[in-house]
Amino acid sequence: MLVYLNGEYIPHAEARISVDDRGFLFADGVYEVVRVYEGRPFLMTEHLERMAHGLRELRIAFDDVASLGDIAARLLDENDIRGDATIYFQITRGAAPRKHAFPADGTPPTVYVAAKPFAQHPDAFFHDGVAAITVPDNRWARCDIKSVSLLPNVLANQMAKEAGAFEALFVRDGVLLEGSHSNLFGVVDGTLVTYPRCNYILPGITRDLVLRIAGELGIPTREAPIFVDRFARIDELFLSGTTTEVMPIVRVDGKAVGSGRPGEITRRLQEAYRAAAHPKG
Ligand code: PDD
Repeated sequence: MLVYLNGEYIPHAEARISVDDRGFLFADGVYEVVRVYEGRPFLMTEHLERMAHGLRELRIAFDDVASLGDIAARLLDENDIRGDATIYFQITRGAAPRKHAFPADGTPPTVYVAAKPFAQHPDAFFHDGVAAITVPDNRWARCDIKSVSLLPNVLANQMAKEAGAFEALFVRDGVLLEGSHSNLFGVVDGTLVTYPRCNYILPGITRDLVLRIAGELGIPTREAPIFVDRFARIDELFLSGTTTEVMPIVRVDGKAVGSGRPGEITRRLQEAYRAAAHPKG
């Protein structure tokens, strides 16, 4: 499998970065995951715009974000990937002797891109729904940046796995915010509810699409908190994400969500999402 690293297309096994890379030393970098359906990247522009936002906020000097789309296309081509896949992008502040403050101007960022075939989660997850657990949100207050600094997400996801659940939901001040690697939606009194776009969640590309699709389907939407202590009022709950798509949650911390089965609004959004993602013809 060929990958892209700092201007070169090389076999994955030969890709090397410095032990002084700030991604390695400080998790000083950003990443993106883009889904490929039948060989075609989905919502690439939106993902690259979010990456540009993260780079700007972290003041990492890399302004040729548009070139990443061409690199991804070449990797799909050279690796002969025509089916379902993901593309992973990572840019760090580059390699320099370990000092917290930024390295000298002109230190080149490290740019890595890889494409690999993707096996979707089992159909049963989408059809029957999955379980989630809640965990306290101990992340920093810039969750809008898709930083590679993912330790709280890693630990939360591992707790979910050990509990036999698919996802861990971060709770801050009694509010269900998002998952360790996905956004969260609820249905309350027929209205689709998701936490407002702000520094406490990642502005998911899938989240945006789900909100847009809901608008088109005439489903009322509201960007507002979902409170843990009003759990009994939640009729439906689902996750959204690049690899998670629209995934119903039927249990949280062992308690059934609504009827304990995926709900009607979730189903409609799931279908519409799949239709949007799969290229026609
Ligand atoms: N995760 N929230 C968090 C914390 C995420 O890490 C992700 C994505 C999302 C969903 O965003 P999007 O719809 O743009 O994929 C929300 C990726 C897929 C990952 O870390 O692998």
